[in-house]
Amino acid sequence: MVRQVCILSTARPVEGELDVQNILLQARTNNGPQGITGMLAAGGGFYLQIIEGEAGAVDALIARMQADKRHENLRILQDIEVAERDFCGCPMAFRNLAGESVGLIAAHLRGAWLPAREIAAAVGNPAAAAALTRMPLAA
Ligand SMILES: Cc1cc2nc3c(=O)[nH]c(=O)nc-3n(C[C@H](O)[C@H](O)[C@H](O)COP(=O)(O)O)c2cc1C
Repeated sequence: MVRQVCILSTARPVEGELDVQNILLQARTNNGPQGITGMLAAGGGFYLQIIEGEAGAVDALIARMQADKRHENLRILQDIEVAERDFCGCPMAFRNLAGESVGLIAAHLRGAWLPAREIAAAVGNPAAAAALTRMPLAA
């Protein structure tokens, strides 16, 4: 089984800019050797990230991220075990996050879990994110 965690955080711009390029460089350098894969979405003043891997490696990454001043208010929206990775072979994919999607995805995840593939589809698409809130809750 693979642990899959979805994290929302509030971006803290550095000199007015989000530091996405450097974050992705760090993630893509570190994640391969740690067996971490996932996706980072940035926009609307937020980062929404899915990280997947062995439980201990995921914990270690979250601990490093909690000390990172480039964001704050980290919230674990979902922490589940899945049979297979959704981002196989991808140390950290990137998507633009539509600001309107954030609240809708977070609202859905408060009531039910959501496959990472559907989170990925909804981050860039507010209409898809809105449809989530109308989905029946998962068991
Ligand atoms: C939104 C966000 C996502 C991040 N994602 C990752 C990641 O997937 N992997 C990673 O190693 N570091 C990630 N980082 C950076 C870590 O917080 C930390 O700075 C880095 O892991 C330290 O690496 P180092 O010990 O090699 O300097 C992220 C930072 C932010 C702000």
